[in-house]
Amino acid sequence: MRRLTFFLSGEHSKIPSSEVAAAIEAENHNYKAIEKLDQILTVETDANPALLSRRLGMCHWIGEHFCTCGEEDLIEAIGSSDILDFLPQSRSIAVRVRRVKNYLSEIDTQKLAQKIADAILEKYDYNVDLENPHNEIACVLSEGKCVVTKILTKVERQAFQERKPSKRAFVHPSTMQPNLARALVNLARTPRNGTFLDPFCGVGGILIEAGLIGSTPIGVDIKPELIEGSRKNLKERGIKEFELHETDAKDLDIEKVDAIATDPPYGRQASTGGSELKELYKSTLPVLTNQLKSEKYLCITAPTEIELEKMSEDLPLNIKDIYRQRVHKSLTRNIYVFQREKY
Ligand SMILES: C[S@@+](CC[C@H](N)C(=O)[O-])C[C@H]1O[C@@H](n2cnc3c(N)ncnc32)[C@H](O)[C@@H]1O
Repeated sequence: MRRLTFFLSGEHSKIPSSEVAAAIEAENHNYKAIEKLDQILTVETDANPALLSRRLGMCHWIGEHFCTCGEEDLIEAIGSSDILDFLPQSRSIAVRVRRVKNYLSEIDTQKLAQKIADAILEKYDYNVDLENPHNEIACVLSEGKCVVTKILTKVERQAFQERKPSKRAFVHPSTMQPNLARALVNLARTPRNGTFLDPFCGVGGILIEAGLIGSTPIGVDIKPELIEGSRKNLKERGIKEFELHETDAKDLDIEKVDAIATDPPYGRQASTGGSELKELYKSTLPVLTNQLKSEKYLCITAPTEIELEKMSEDLPLNIKDIYRQRVHKSLTRNIYVFQREKY
């Protein structure tokens, strides 16, 4: 098994690392967590890094892990690590040092990059190419440690920017940022070749992310104009296979699906179709549970005043995780990840 290091985005303290674990599970691979530092996760896994980087919404890059140590031991650790075995000779290298937040603020990142490069160049004859190197060595400073990796693959963060809600064919305010939507899709362990349901799909923000990883998105919304919005937005992204149903989520009765991720209305910008918010969750949670295949996952958001822990007590659902997320001054929500019991 390979030791992979994920350089995570700092948008949330827990979701990015959980997203990595969930994406590995969704790809049907095992992993063992080796080390977790602020914005850094190192795991042992046989999952394919290129496939993972195409899935992840809250990660910058994935690298081959070489060593984690204090600055004082760094040069020695690089000398004794396998790093040189992974760097084909007579090819170019670049060393970059990246600081997470204010960790190890006494270290001059440029000088450290030079020191690491000198230690490598002392032993082997590489060209240095800072613009377009064959091998990019990254040293990340986090929680008093230096984590050294060779970058294997980068997440196309720009593509998420290009899909942001204001740039869509059909624009609607109550829609999620694409990289959070992608994280929800991953937390729901959405398989690449399976069915995915968003029962409150709006204009399709989450459906698009599920479709782009290769699943078949199924969207449901009570409002016909938003169903049409979803259709336009999915087509605009080149997603050809999808299903859309204009119906109330609590009346849903379709074939069971492999994953569900959804962001129901909060009674603010998004309409609840007249029903009270608590009632909406109470009436739809059993329906969504019933729509899931055995042992599959549901990822659902809820404002903190709606306690899904209680509402799910009598349902065949197990809570896997709950993440708290502040959306803005007057809205903090929980993101729940449930697994349907085996049947
Ligand atoms: C927060 S929005 C979803 C946004 C969507 N996740 C996105 O990123 O584009 C919630 C949606 O739920 C829909 N809705 C409200 N009550 C519903 C119900 N009972 N059944 C189905 N959809 C409903 C609203 O029309 C709204 O589009």
